Formats: sequence, C-alpha cells, structure tokens
Amino acid sequence: MSRWSEGTQERARQIIARYPEKRSAVMPLLYLAMSEEGYLTGDGMEEVGRWCEITPAQVLSVASFYTMYKRERTGQYLVSCCTSITCMLLGGDDVLHAVEDESGVPHGETDDDGLLSVEHVECIGACGGAPAVQVNYELIEGVSPEKARQLIRWLESARPEVVNSDEMQALFGARRSFDWAISEVNGATGPYPAFQPLGTVGSEVAD
Ligand code: FES
Repeated sequence: MSRWSEGTQERARQIIARYPEKRSAVMPLLYLAMSEEGYLTGDGMEEVGRWCEITPAQVLSVASFYTMYKRERTGQYLVSCCTSITCMLLGGDDVLHAVEDESGVPHGETDDDGLLSVEHVECIGACGGAPAVQVNYELIEGVSPEKARQLIRWLESARPEVVNSDEMQALFGARRSFDWAISEVNGATGPYPAFQPLGTVGSEVAD
C-alpha cells in the first residue's frame, strides 16, 4: 500500500514505464518523493525503493551523493547563489552576502517560518550571465547585490505560488547567457527541480 497520493503514484507509473529497468527510475522518483513531502524522508526513500525494487541502502546511496536531493526540511523558497569562479569574479560572494543579510538566513540554513532556505552552490551552468542565482532551481542571471535584496523582499511579500525564471529575470536580472534560450513557461511550485517533462511537478508526463 503506497503512502503517496494517487496523482504521484500515477506519475511514478508513467516514469517507470519509460525505462527498461525499474531501478533506472530512481532519480526522478526521488524528486517525486520530495514533491510529496517537501524533502526526502526515510519513509519517502523506502517508498522509492519499493517502486524501483531496490534496497533502502541503494536508494540512500543515490540520495546522499547529489546535493539537490534534500534530506532535511527546506523552506518554501530555496535560494541558491553561485559562488564558483566566474560568478565569484563578478561579485557572486557579494550577492550571497546580500541574500544572507536581507533574509537573515545564513548559508545552509532555513528560517524559523519555513519560508526561505539559503545556500551557496557550485557552477549552475550560467557563467555567461554571472552572477547567477536560482530560486527553486529557476534561474536568474546578472544579479547585483541590490537586486538580490529586492528578490528576497519580493519573495517575503509576494510569496508567489509558482516561481518562474523569465518573470524573475525581468524583475531582478540583467545580462543573460543566451537571449535565444527556450522560454520558461511552467515555473516551479516547490524547492525541487521542476523537470516538467518527467511530470515531477504538477504536470503530466510528456509523450
Ligand atoms: S560560475 Fe556561476 S554559473 Fe558558472
């Protein structure tokens, strides 16, 4: 008997059907487990093991290897500031400090209300638009410390149900890596990657 909602179970079935081996679906199913409970609990990882027919230890070995799998409760908005070399040279540390100062949340922590989590991260593939920041893995490029403060105030006051890269880029970003990048239409509804083609957040699995 699964502890997941019927919608999550249906997405799990659709995702597993894409792979020749059930165990190959472990990574997208870990995101499903996060979307179900907000983070990866022991019960959630056991559930993934049952769906993929692998042991809890095998699930944990994947979940503990990648930093984007959160095994502690994360705020409604996960703000990730890149401090790798390109962003660092263009002020990424100042952006991180502005985020920490404005939110009152240091790197690796979540506020008492469960609204904001802050982390610094390694390169997120947007070096051409450095310094780069993500909110729930939705990207903003060309962020200044002042714009970072505005971003935090906006999250605290507007509390958008969905965060969308294009919207945040227009409000708080500047230079982008690629002007021809595919437009983001769905956005993210929680502190986990949206991956809409896999149906891990709200949408059906694409054909
Ligand atoms: S160094 Fe920050 S996005 Fe690459």
